Amino acid sequence: MNKIFIGALMTIVLGAGTATIVAASGLIDIGADVPHSPLIYKALEFGRERSIARRAAGLNVPEDLGSPERVRRGAGNYEAMCINCHLAPDMPDSEIRKGLYPTPRNLATQAKTMETSRSPARDFWIIKHGIKSSGMPAWSKGGMDDEAIWDLAAFVQQLPGLSKADYEQLVAASDGHAHSGAGHHGDGHDEHESPPAASPPPKPVVSPTAAHRHDDHGHGAHKH
Ligand code: HEC
Repeated sequence: MNKIFIGALMTIVLGAGTATIVAASGLIDIGADVPHSPLIYKALEFGRERSIARRAAGLNVPEDLGSPERVRRGAGNYEAMCINCHLAPDMPDSEIRKGLYPTPRNLATQAKTMETSRSPARDFWIIKHGIKSSGMPAWSKGGMDDEAIWDLAAFVQQLPGLSKADYEQLVAASDGHAHSGAGHHGDGHDEHESPPAASPPPKPVVSPTAAHRHDDHGHGAHKH
């Protein structure tokens, strides 16, 4: 019994020691342009999914999640905050997405065909809390309230079925970039929100494909 215990302890100490030496040696390439080995990638992915599943399990998904109102409201925030990393229908790959590791999912095309099933609760949790060391921000820290985050979760569930025209129409019909979801408009809860207005000023609709032009920065020779 004692021998087994000592053996287990030695294994742990040796393992931790080796890990420390490897880390201290600087041999691990922290650069985002060098992928993890497949084994490390799988291990990190496994831990990420377990962590999210555990935390998303207790969430109450709003009954009206599929309502056109939520999807409409989510569209404006998606356009304002997400397309650089997660793209939009018919949008070419972005510079930032190409450089991020892990690569953010193309939420405009992949949601229904991905290996990890994307439940609304999982999407909500990820959007609210973000994912450490990945580039996915915790949007709640920027001031998004839960209702607005559910609106985004509702929208990203519908996104893969949308054509470019559908997408642009939804963005145009949305309230643009708003931090509060249903029932909170203009009640002063959110200092970041634009002032209440009977008819909100029309937001210019930026076509996702035209959202980022290299010519704007004066290096037009570099085209995608
Ligand atoms: C700066 C880049 C960036 C922005 C902006 C960003 N994300 Fe992400 N997002 C990521 C990255 C990177 C991941 C993948 C993290 C991982 O795999 O560990 C991710 C993961 C996700 C996932 C999980 C996808 C999956 O199934 O694995 C969802 C859903 C998501 N983001 C939604 C959003 C929404 C909605 C917005 C806008 C409010 C947004 N993200 C803005 C980088 C970004």
